[in-house]
Amino acid sequence: MCGEGVPVITLDGPGGAGKGTVSRLLAQELGWHYLDSGALYRLVGLAALERGISLTDEAALAELARNLDAQFEPSDGGAEPRIYLQGREVTAALRSENCGEAASRVAALGRVRHALLERQRRFRRPPGLVADGRDMGTVVFPDAPLKIFLTASAEERARRRYKQLKDKGMDVRLDDLFKEIEARDARDRNRSQAPLKAAAEAVEIDTTGMEIAEVVQRVLALWRERCAQESV
Ligand code: DC
Repeated sequence: MCGEGVPVITLDGPGGAGKGTVSRLLAQELGWHYLDSGALYRLVGLAALERGISLTDEAALAELARNLDAQFEPSDGGAEPRIYLQGREVTAALRSENCGEAASRVAALGRVRHALLERQRRFRRPPGLVADGRDMGTVVFPDAPLKIFLTASAEERARRRYKQLKDKGMDVRLDDLFKEIEARDARDRNRSQAPLKAAAEAVEIDTTGMEIAEVVQRVLALWRERCAQESV
């Protein structure tokens, strides 16, 4: 049931459902690696914006994705990893709303997704990987022994994003964020390439009104129930 090789726990779901924080804390608890696949799409979006590449030029964007010179530097204590593009730190820039918007557009392109596939799979190294995204359980790691689908209401996700961005000193409006979240959800769910959906065997957790720590404990309990006895 727990599969062969290096174990992976996948966490998929819409933006703002708490995947990032939950995934990083899980990776920390287990002593595993962490893949923030959304950051890869954001990196492609950022690089395209900076280089003036049109967000509809699929061939040029796929080329950009294939040759992306990016590094992830893990942080301690469940904090966000530092991310570098061609040696320059872009961690904060990647979180901006226009970068998220660009990421959502490039993520809809099949050739860009394909170009990033192997790079994502290379994150699967011993002793294990927590993979955070939209298609981790359905496309990138279909053999993952534990697949989680995290959701939360759009209102709750907009409030969380608002707080996150305000804490970073950004000037944002709650109703703008709500509209952007709804638009991005629709695009992620309705695209033809790897649309956002739960893998058939995924365990769905609605995090509306739940504390992050509670969600982490739920996932850890599921992991231990299913697999920990086999791997110790
Ligand atoms: O999780 P995030 O907000 O950083 O993701 C940025 C965009 O990339 C978002 O529109 C969804 C898309 N994405 C994707 O299509 N597939 C993934 N595995 C991760 C993110």
